[in-house]
This record gives sequence, C-alpha cells and structure tokens, in this order.
Amino acid sequence: MKKWNVASVRASKGVRKLGCCTAYDACFARLADEAGVPILLVGDSMGMTVLGYGTTLPVKMEETLSATAAVARAAKDALVVADLPFGSYQCGDDLAMENAVKCIKAGADAVKLEGGARVCGLIKRMTEAGIPVLAHVGMTPQSVNEYGGFKRQGKTREAADQVLADAKAVEAAGAIAVTLECIPSELAAEITAALGIVTVGIGAGPVCDAQWLVMHDLLGLNESAPSFVKQYAHLADDVRRAFSAYVAEVADGTFPPAQER
Ligand code: KIV
Repeated sequence: MKKWNVASVRASKGVRKLGCCTAYDACFARLADEAGVPILLVGDSMGMTVLGYGTTLPVKMEETLSATAAVARAAKDALVVADLPFGSYQCGDDLAMENAVKCIKAGADAVKLEGGARVCGLIKRMTEAGIPVLAHVGMTPQSVNEYGGFKRQGKTREAADQVLADAKAVEAAGAIAVTLECIPSELAAEITAALGIVTVGIGAGPVCDAQWLVMHDLLGLNESAPSFVKQYAHLADDVRRAFSAYVAEVADGTFPPAQER
C-alpha cells in the first residue's frame, strides 16, 4: 500500500469510501496503520478518551504535539492529521500559523480545525503556506459552551443552510476535506453532493464520502459511546479480565511460575 496523501484522499471521492479513526499513541497508530486505516486523526477528543476531561477544551498544544509525533512515528501509510486544540488558533492568525507549523514539524501531514466561514481566512493562509487543512463543521465540540452541551446541529432549514454555507466556504478556502459532525443524514447527503471535496462524517449518516470513529469508541474501550457508534470489539471487557487475572495470579502464587533449572 502506498502512503496516503492529499492527492489520493481527494481522488477517493466517488470512488472509494474511507473508514478513518483517531489515534493518540504509537501502539494503536501502528495497529490501525497496519490494518489499512487511511487517515489517522490525532483528535482533541484525546482530552476525553485519554486525559479524562469532560470536554476537549483543556487539551494543550504540547499534548497535541507529543501525541502527533508518536502517531507519526508509527504510521507508515496513513495520512496523519493533527487536530488543533482549543486556544491554539483562536488568539490571532500568526499564533495559529505557528501552531500549525509545529504540527507539521512534529510529523503531521495536515491539520484540522473547527469552524466554517469564520476560519476561512486561516484555512486560506495555511493552504497557501503548504499546510493542508481538514475543516470541521456542524457540531464542533470546541463550541460546547456556546451550544450548552454536545447537541446535534443543522436541525431546522435555516440552521441546515448555515452548515451548508460553511461547508461550501471551507471548500472555497482550500480545505482538502471537511468533517461533518452530528448533523441530520439528509443534510450530510446534500453537502456531500454539493462539494467536490471529501466529506468525513461522524454521527452524520451513511452518505458521506468517509467516516470518522473515535478509536476508543470503535474498539469498545469507551463504554459510554454515543448511540451512532458501532463497537467493532469489546476491549474494555478483555482488558479488565486481563488485569484481574494478573492480580489474582500474583496473589495466589501462580504468577510468576517457578523458574526452570
Ligand atoms: O477530535 C476528534 O476526535 C474529532 C472527531 C470528532 C472527528 O474531531
């Protein structure tokens, strides 16, 4: 398999649907890469899946950079995308550029940021600087305080038109793909048909060109995953079983076994 790049992601539209997921460390990134996952997102969802926060907002730039470097070291074929954390691109375009450059220097092939028309200036500037950008519209988790919770977006015709306009705007600004999170599937279908770039849905129905799943959800490590998630494994059970077997075997003297002479 050849390394995924911007051109092959763009060329996949209408040809092949891409099953993509998040990764936050070298161990799981290597396994996902070996299994053929085309795009690995070092998502700011790590704030919730790995760092134990209730939202993505506390994630720091240094945490994103260290996770991005780990994933990039392990991924041979996948396109590695670093998710710019909250605060890294809201405090001025120069700082945003510096942070995007740091992600690329850490090994990312592209960056992702949240927002529609309001981040188009940044998308254009990053693209012109040679930094490929994945956009993210619909429910953008970094706006959780604005929404008052992680709430499905685009439910009225007016709200749907706003999401559609945002998606068209990020495409015009140069985004290579756009995440559509938690919007009605009819709206995701409408956007997918209207755009020439790949739409990557999460909680946005089956018609998108690609899908994201958060790795801990798809592997069954997160037992309170959203209802749209399909768990392809139930690792939480396996991991708990393994830990308790180990604790029990040490307690009863079964492990470690007596050394053979
Ligand atoms: O951080 C993340 O996991 C994401 C996905 C929702 C795409 O942005």
